[in-house]
Amino acid sequence: MIEELEQTAADASARLAEVTDLDSLATLDAEFLGKKSALTLAKKQLGGLEPDDRKAAGKALNEIRGRIEADIAEARQRLTADARAEQLEAERLDLTEKRDEIKRGSLHLVTQSRDRLEDVFVGMGFTIAEGPEVESAWYNFEALNIPEWHPARGSFDTIFVNLGEPEQVMLRSHTSPVQIRTMENTEPPIYIVAPGRTFRTDTADATHLPAFNQIEGLVIDKGITMGDLAGTIDEFVRKFFGGEVKTRLRPSYFPFTEPSAEFDISRPDGSWLELGGCGMVHPNVLRNCGIDPDVWQGFAFGFGIDRLAVMRYQLDDIRELVNNDVRFLRQF
Ligand code: PHE
Repeated sequence: MIEELEQTAADASARLAEVTDLDSLATLDAEFLGKKSALTLAKKQLGGLEPDDRKAAGKALNEIRGRIEADIAEARQRLTADARAEQLEAERLDLTEKRDEIKRGSLHLVTQSRDRLEDVFVGMGFTIAEGPEVESAWYNFEALNIPEWHPARGSFDTIFVNLGEPEQVMLRSHTSPVQIRTMENTEPPIYIVAPGRTFRTDTADATHLPAFNQIEGLVIDKGITMGDLAGTIDEFVRKFFGGEVKTRLRPSYFPFTEPSAEFDISRPDGSWLELGGCGMVHPNVLRNCGIDPDVWQGFAFGFGIDRLAVMRYQLDDIRELVNNDVRFLRQF
């Protein structure tokens, strides 16, 4: 009997070495160790043997059983590892595929220009200020010395928001309200620039966008003159464009500055491009913010960032900045 079982164990070992899936392994397990297996049947017959024989046979049976169990465990381990490897292979994602088609994004031209402007002004000692894009008539007009009856209100082509009293809430038509907000809660001296989005009822064309970006500058200190203003504009233009670009001021009018000017920068062909407005902060504006005009003076300026980008990158049409054509955007 023991000899027969040794043969069975050898058979089992050979077949377990070849088994290729877990289902077949379960069948083999039942066949060699289950209730109807030769091994189990042999164990049942042990009772009929003499005590000494029984002991020897029992030991041999246990030893054979141990070997078959070890073979089964080994086969199970091998099959489980195979199955896992197969699953990993099936679920693998090839992230290196189509490698040369991966394109890197970049910051938008206007963002790049704004970042550069901020760097230039921060380098000159200014800090960055911000204000909301939806404003009240007080901040967008009144505090800036533009009362309700003032004809200058019309020149701002304001987009009003349908909220509260008519024409009291609006998308800010310039960044100048940030002057007021800053002076309201900062003790002079003040040296800030405030970049941000601004809105007007303009129809988009080659030189206008209804939603555009401005940057406002405000300096409040003692003994500030128009010369400081001219020097500041000249310095930032030089830093932004490099040495070749010149600036000039032309007399102009804004209710919130007195005197007021428009400032131009020189183009490579010698012509002038109007960039923005500026002037000495009007005493009424200082008073509206609780600042004594007999002690403090200052200047302010504001200009379009999008126009600056158009000039710097020599674009034909300002609308390129918002068309979102990747063939255009990718070049920068
Ligand atoms: N806010 C003015 C505009 O948008 C520009 C400006 C700013 C003029 C500051 C003077 C001082 O046209």
